[in-house]
Amino acid sequence: MQDRDTLPFGGAISAFHDHAAPPEVRAAIAAAAPDDIASDSYPYDRRLERAIYESELEALQIELVKLQAWVKETGQRVLIVFEGRDAAGKGGTIRRFRENLNPRGARVAALAKPSETEAGQWYFQRYVSHLPAAGEIVLFDRSWYNRAVVEHVFGYCTEGQREHFFAQVTNFERMLTDDGIHLFKLWLNVGRAEQLRRFLKRERDPLKQWKLSWIDVEGLNRWEAYSSAIRETFARSHTEFAPWTLVRADDKRRTRLEALRTVLAPLPYARRSSDAVGRTDPAIVGGPDIWHG
Ligand code: ADP
Ligand code: MLT
Repeated sequence: MQDRDTLPFGGAISAFHDHAAPPEVRAAIAAAAPDDIASDSYPYDRRLERAIYESELEALQIELVKLQAWVKETGQRVLIVFEGRDAAGKGGTIRRFRENLNPRGARVAALAKPSETEAGQWYFQRYVSHLPAAGEIVLFDRSWYNRAVVEHVFGYCTEGQREHFFAQVTNFERMLTDDGIHLFKLWLNVGRAEQLRRFLKRERDPLKQWKLSWIDVEGLNRWEAYSSAIRETFARSHTEFAPWTLVRADDKRRTRLEALRTVLAPLPYARRSSDAVGRTDPAIVGGPDIWHG
């Protein structure tokens, strides 16, 4: 364990979370045992048992291998967008998708902030170059929705640019799906108490400190601004051809299993086992109507 003074933010979160987080959030975190869920809007009190998680994960990952074989054999293109607030668990979920896949044909696209050249291009341009080719599954760790949420909350784009984004995004996605790309848009929805608990844990863990950025710390203060940006994003980009799937993300185990199921469920790959895929849990997965901001 590192000394507080040597932490990247000098213990910034612990130092200011007392006034940044409302009392009920602090109380929920203080009271939560490791297996407890800190956020009270979550439908379960405790996280999924490890043994159940591990056996279901294995079964779903086997299905994913079959899915990839089908994608390759039949030249499908699969694009999965992972969105959500910081610490929602996007990276960890993506890792469970890729774990047993052939990396050739299962890529992650995690784009850095736009370069000067990219900033002068059509907004969607740099994302287009990462779209899947025939036989590929591409996992987007964040996506073009940066403009709708993060860039807006932090003032990295103008209101006009954001309006322009909303005017184009549904057409953009319609072009992708019209062209036969299987597009999934997953929104991992983490509650406020759980997000703060994860930040505090990261701050204490030297191996995870790289994940803690100024944006994360500052984002704690901007919970409400995020909430309204997210609400608006759902209202303006949840379409019949490219719907949002929300996954309640306070329990990482359930998040990962349900995200895998969401992708496997509608795709007609060969040798599928409906038993292994199972059904998504309607308490965890749904449309924007299950959102808690
Ligand atoms: P992550 O959570 O993906 O590890 P951060 O929390 O640091 O990364 O940043 C959130 C998102 O904001 C990232 O996708 C990053 O590229 C983007 N971002 C950061 N700075 C800028 C900027 N100046 N302009 C546009 N986007 C930015
Ligand atoms: C997140 O959403 O949490 C980030 O992608 C990093 C992580 O996986 O924790």
